[in-house]
Amino acid sequence: MDLNLQAIQAHLGGHPWHDSIQVFDLVDTTNNLAKSLAFQGAPAGTILIADRQSAGRGRLGRTFLSPAGVGIYLSAILRPNCPPGELMHLTCAVGAAMCDAVEAACGFRPGIKWTNDLVCGTKKLGGILVELGLSPSGNADYAVVGIGINCRQREADFDESIRDMACSAEMIAGKSIDRNLLAAHMIRALREMDTTLLSGKEAMLERYRADCITIGKEISILRGDEIRHGTALDVDEEGALVVRYENGQIAPVNAGEVSIRGLYGYIS
Ligand code: BTN
Repeated sequence: MDLNLQAIQAHLGGHPWHDSIQVFDLVDTTNNLAKSLAFQGAPAGTILIADRQSAGRGRLGRTFLSPAGVGIYLSAILRPNCPPGELMHLTCAVGAAMCDAVEAACGFRPGIKWTNDLVCGTKKLGGILVELGLSPSGNADYAVVGIGINCRQREADFDESIRDMACSAEMIAGKSIDRNLLAAHMIRALREMDTTLLSGKEAMLERYRADCITIGKEISILRGDEIRHGTALDVDEEGALVVRYENGQIAPVNAGEVSIRGLYGYIS
């Protein structure tokens, strides 16, 4: 079935965000549209979903390929109204919420490659891109939470550049996936996450740790031109990856890129 508003709403019943959802055939990127609506005052719970994006974006300036008919490209506006430093765990919270949504709609639970990739085995199922806007007071004025999930692709449908590294929910579940049902579960999970975002931080991170496949693995950290090797020990209370480097030093990693040695060829 095509992605459509009525079907998503029917799955949501009387959900508080039922009337603040928009579905588009094509946008450049739902995150940009969400940021511009947030700037104009759109409330928390504004949800934008596209069947296709012409300029889908991922972290670190990467492209997120977003073809028609096969994926869900969804952005939500949140209004956390707190200092941005209290939102360090937001990407992790969204990750755990998306694992819940995929499990409920598709019957399997993906893992999370720290911080923002949904994965199944060695392949990427989707990604998360969180962007904050600040108010003049320095508080977060809005958070735009963007999620892309590969739903209906067969292996041959993926662009050659990512074919070895990507998977879809249908490939994993071995059955047809209803994108409208998955979108509804994503919206439910985001709302639940939003209601306890600041009060339930430690519980969220505990759930994230259980889903995070990076913990315990030998990893490489790429920052600019520098590569360091170590072991991922934990995810700390800010959502940073705690790494023991080869020289024995233990330190949190907040930025840069982490690859798991011998696995996950989609990041060099
Ligand atoms: C990543 O893999 O680095 C993150 C990908 C995030 C993709 C989603 S799709 C909806 C929203 N719009 C975008 O342009 N990006 C996010």
